Amino acid sequence: MPPRPLAPWLSPLKTHLTSPSATTSFTLTTIAHSSSGVPVPRARTVEFRGFFPTLNLHPSAIKSLKEQNIGLNADVYESEMIAVTTDVRMEKVGELGASGGVVEGVFWLASEGEGEREREKVSREVVGRGLRLKVPEGEGGKEEEWTWERQVDMYFANHSPAMRGTFKNPPPGTPRSQDPGNPQLKLGQKVEDLRDEVARANFRVLVIRPEEVERLDLQDPANVTRTRWTAVRDGEEWQEVYLWP
Ligand SMILES: Cc1cc2nc3c(=O)[nH]c(=O)nc-3n(C[C@H](O)[C@H](O)[C@H](O)COP(=O)(O)O)c2cc1C
Repeated sequence: MPPRPLAPWLSPLKTHLTSPSATTSFTLTTIAHSSSGVPVPRARTVEFRGFFPTLNLHPSAIKSLKEQNIGLNADVYESEMIAVTTDVRMEKVGELGASGGVVEGVFWLASEGEGEREREKVSREVVGRGLRLKVPEGEGGKEEEWTWERQVDMYFANHSPAMRGTFKNPPPGTPRSQDPGNPQLKLGQKVEDLRDEVARANFRVLVIRPEEVERLDLQDPANVTRTRWTAVRDGEEWQEVYLWP
């Protein structure tokens, strides 16, 4: 993996998102198609789960990962790619497939004023190119032990047993009058087993690889600034342009 430079917009966004008072949910917009085939936007609130694959693991998640013999990936990679967890049965996942994985995410940082197998393989390659080793290659040597599967286990472990249970809810968005078909799909379940087959079949980690980032800074009303960064050469470099707000 060649060394990747730090994205110039990463540091301020990271500072905002890791401050204790920060709202870490954001609006994620995908492209859907109406019954007549017209493209329509779809926006919803999702929770920011850190910059992939960095995870702020809860002590209970660490305990479960160890007790269930999954272990932890070494903390060897970092990136500016945004991680979100979701249920594969939700609309956004199909929309991502149909639109070529294009999304727009909007963060409102009030306190500061301001997408199987083949697809999975391709996704891992794209995400893999966005990863940066935190220590020079070979120096730590722990990257050889790092696995994609365990990384997904770690995101799953970091949800509470009740939240893990939601991945065994009846299919999201289907009428309550409709029988879910599978008696294992019901509301209010708690999942302790990190390898629970039903929940894990539905659990996904979405990774957003930014290509264009805009920052509107409203802190100083007399000098409102708007900056756009565009990734060039697969994100090896960021082009910076100052815009009228
Ligand atoms: C504060 C908040 C955080 C949410 N976080 C997530 C999330 O991380 N992942 C997710 O799939 N849905 C999350 N949701 C639910 C989504 O807004 C949405 O209802 C759900 O994902 C179904 O959307 P879809 O049918 O368009 O895929 C959250 C909702 C709220 C209000």
